Amino acid sequence: MNIKQEILRAFRSHPDDFISGEFLSQNCNCTRAAVWKHIEELRQDGYEFEAVRKSGYRLISSPDYVSAEEILSLMKTEVIGQNIVSYDSVPTTQTIAHDVAAQGAPEGTIIIANEQTGSKGRFGRVWHSPANTGIWMSMILRPVIQIGRSPQMTLVTAVAMAKTIQEYDIDVKIKWPNDVFVSGKKVCGILTELNAEADGINYLVIGIGINVNTQADDIPEEFKDIATSLRIAKGEPIRRATFIQSFCLHFEQMYLEYIQNGFGSIKEEWEALSMSLNRRVTVRTLQKVVEGEATGLNDEGVLLVRDDEGGVHRVYSADIEYSES
Ligand code: BTN
Repeated sequence: MNIKQEILRAFRSHPDDFISGEFLSQNCNCTRAAVWKHIEELRQDGYEFEAVRKSGYRLISSPDYVSAEEILSLMKTEVIGQNIVSYDSVPTTQTIAHDVAAQGAPEGTIIIANEQTGSKGRFGRVWHSPANTGIWMSMILRPVIQIGRSPQMTLVTAVAMAKTIQEYDIDVKIKWPNDVFVSGKKVCGILTELNAEADGINYLVIGIGINVNTQADDIPEEFKDIATSLRIAKGEPIRRATFIQSFCLHFEQMYLEYIQNGFGSIKEEWEALSMSLNRRVTVRTLQKVVEGEATGLNDEGVLLVRDDEGGVHRVYSADIEYSES
């Protein structure tokens, strides 16, 4: 943890209190002059401090910015999000995550950007990632599981995301496999990419895009009927760093459960949150189009679709459309 992160963490542990320069310098193992310099830098970054002689500093407000300092100062996890690299603007966090994972970045590393200019969606689509509105991040995982089970990680992520959104009293559903919907519109997309060899997974990069504070007018015309944001649903802005902290905690708990006890309990939670089950769907895979009823997940997390002749199809990766609303 660097000095800025230590200073912010000290203020988070003493909300509303004045903290002396002396305490901060001992806590962060640096000089009083270094404390002052870093507080000035934090002010430049948009943090507001009140300074009172003999009492010290008090944190009054923080910017809604997705910097590593800000997120780490809130983090309550053991592994997930304990190593964060943040950028103002990058083409896509996915490529950076692959690069650092290949260089040995630890499990739970998060690459996050305030803006993406060339972001990647599923099936080669573009994902709209404008500055200051959403959470655009890629998480590196190194699960010791069979390669064939890696799609389950996408379902784990979708459930952790839905649970985080529920904390804001927003009603949320998951469209198979991993689109997170609010008020019938997509609010979050998940892109899981795998790097593996014949004998196992090297790492997974799970890309997560969430429309957090996007306002209705900011949604491009062509997406207005299909996309929304948490702010639109809740009617007020949401602090992105706090949301990420909460997501990481939910994800870490579920990931541990999954690694220790398998997919069983995740499957139940996914099914309870699903908007796809017991509905007529049209499934488009690269090989075929199937129409039928989505009946559930099997124990591997594969979607089961029963066609009109009673045949059951296992769907591993596809786009699904609802044949009726
Ligand atoms: C989808 O198509 O639904 C998945 C969208 C995933 C977007 C996220 S944003 C962070 C990460 N970086 C990318 O370029 N894509 C993913």
